Amino acid sequence: MAGLNFELLRPEIRQDSAIGAEIHLPEGMSMLDLDRLTETDKESLRQALFENQVVVIKNQKGIDPTVLPQLARVFDSTASNIHSAGEKAVSDPKNILSAYKAGRIPRAPQVGIIGSGKFQDYEGLDELEVIHLDHTMFHETPLGPEELSQGYTRPYRWHMDTPFYERLPGEVTILHSVRVPNLPDQKLQFPEGKHKEVAAGATAFFSGARAFSLLTPEEREFALNTTVTYAPQAYEFIRHCKGSDDGLTVPCWGREVPVDRLSAWTWENVAEHPMVWRSPMNPDRPFLQVHGCCVFKLTTRDPQTGSTTVIDDVEEVRKIVYNMQKKIYAPENIYAHRWEEGDVVIFHNRGVMHSITGQLSQYREDEDKKRILWQCTMTSKTPPQPFREYPGVNGSGFVKV
Ligand SMILES: [Fe+2]
Repeated sequence: MAGLNFELLRPEIRQDSAIGAEIHLPEGMSMLDLDRLTETDKESLRQALFENQVVVIKNQKGIDPTVLPQLARVFDSTASNIHSAGEKAVSDPKNILSAYKAGRIPRAPQVGIIGSGKFQDYEGLDELEVIHLDHTMFHETPLGPEELSQGYTRPYRWHMDTPFYERLPGEVTILHSVRVPNLPDQKLQFPEGKHKEVAAGATAFFSGARAFSLLTPEEREFALNTTVTYAPQAYEFIRHCKGSDDGLTVPCWGREVPVDRLSAWTWENVAEHPMVWRSPMNPDRPFLQVHGCCVFKLTTRDPQTGSTTVIDDVEEVRKIVYNMQKKIYAPENIYAHRWEEGDVVIFHNRGVMHSITGQLSQYREDEDKKRILWQCTMTSKTPPQPFREYPGVNGSGFVKV
């Protein structure tokens, strides 16, 4: 009997992204059943994910939501049982997550519900309303009427799933598509007049390893020696800020919430991660993993002298990170998952950056733009590991005090 195996997505889909594989469950298993997977099956699953960063299991409609947290633990045995956004759905208006009105599944509180539209009596919730974020909320220059009529959309904000405060990022995030909008394809715009056709509501990914490989030798050396401190209460800090068209950075300074006006915070809860991460199953492949909108401070160690240089002008920090990361923003480097109902997508949250795309609001038919996506991402107990170990690099994942 054939065990669990995988095949890479077709080259015309992967292009240069180094992302994407499809999992084939063991013979005779149509719905994922973790109890029936052998250790060899689980090893193949880990190999598929850590080599290809995003994997899909098709036709999982009806999967029990409680399976998702167990599945996440296949990739990180230290994953806690808590969603990295906290134990309950966020209702604090100061938190970006409340803008999505993201709910939680009562029988699996580690699983959030995101999407678009109003639903009655769903998963034990009498009334559920979820909102697909709109380009007008996120971009310094929103899409114009002409771009909208031509079907353009944008990546809203490239990120890893983590609050950068109190809780560490999960190794993986699992998404499950319950309902897909029934809308025509849309287009992403890129520099030099390039574009890429994507499904409406596609989730876009780029690989941190691919991003690292595009750096110059000097940039690689800088990145390998640098630790990134994120802003205190990072998402609250930038909640009035707007992003660049490519969703990688905040291009204008001045709308940040002053640090003394943020919700109560302490340095020992502020995230501090290496700029380049080591992956548990690809220890030789460096991943540039940095959230260009939430950065606050860079500390770089000179390997020759051991002295450190600190850049704490946030505007300058954003520029440095953006100049390194913007090279990835080309159609051939982006994998945009075309959702089909029943897909279970597992992505390596510590190996890719991802973004929502999709302009759903301009369509009139409410039924056509409805969407439901489950999302399970659980905070890990293991901090991201630096690719290059050196004295002073922070081992806890939080600022040393
Ligand atoms: Fe996300």
